[in-house]
Amino acid sequence: MKKIVISLGGSVLVPSLESNNISRYVSVLERIAGKCRIFIVVGGGGEARRYIRVARDLGVGEATADELGILVTRLNARLLVAGLGDAAYPRVAENYTEAKEFAETGRIVVMGGITPAQTTDAVSAVLAESVGADLLINATSVNGIYSADPKKDAGAVRHEHLTPQELLDIITGARMNAGANIVLDIVAGKVIERSGIPLLVLDGRDPENLYRAIVEGAYVGTIVCEESSNPLLS
Ligand code: UTP
Repeated sequence: MKKIVISLGGSVLVPSLESNNISRYVSVLERIAGKCRIFIVVGGGGEARRYIRVARDLGVGEATADELGILVTRLNARLLVAGLGDAAYPRVAENYTEAKEFAETGRIVVMGGITPAQTTDAVSAVLAESVGADLLINATSVNGIYSADPKKDAGAVRHEHLTPQELLDIITGARMNAGANIVLDIVAGKVIERSGIPLLVLDGRDPENLYRAIVEGAYVGTIVCEESSNPLLS
């Protein structure tokens, strides 16, 4: 069975606690789980940002704010585990070894953040490398990686295909522009490059996009891999 790691943006799964998309994701993930091994890394979303903002207002350092963000990602992950019931391993993995151990049960493995100074994109890339995933999917609130921020620039064009090096250039270039929208964090970019695991960035606001990509090989988004072929069909 193929192994697929899915980075599920908090902004997609839990934009806010009340406006969560957990039940829609549960039904899609249960259908996908019968066809491949899935590992899900859940982001912090709006609630993490609220905690981090309040912590900064208290004058705490960035690492402490990150620790709070990690706790919220794990809380979101726990909520997804609860929704998935028997389909998921009942605990949220807190490191990569645990994730591998939990996967031996054949159930969906869910995790959140791990360590400060990164985001769950980095966690998903390291997890993909750790478990030898065939594919990494980043389900986010944009349908791919654009030449500019599509929410601000009407002329922004979606990249259909990027090499890992081109992705890294975009990430490091974006860091130099204040306020630029960074697609993935730098750790994620580097791990994607060194592992050679293909990455698909797609719009996760509709969970069916995940089903179509994984089960039917059909997607709208950006593929990051060395060749321009579709790794979903290989
Ligand atoms: P996210 O991965 O959700 O960050 O982690 P994000 O960029 O806000 O992603 P979206 O918008 O939800 O998709 C939330 C916060 O948790 C901390 C960071 O502070 C991050 O901004 N975090 C997360 C860590 O410090 N380490 C981790 O491994 C994961």
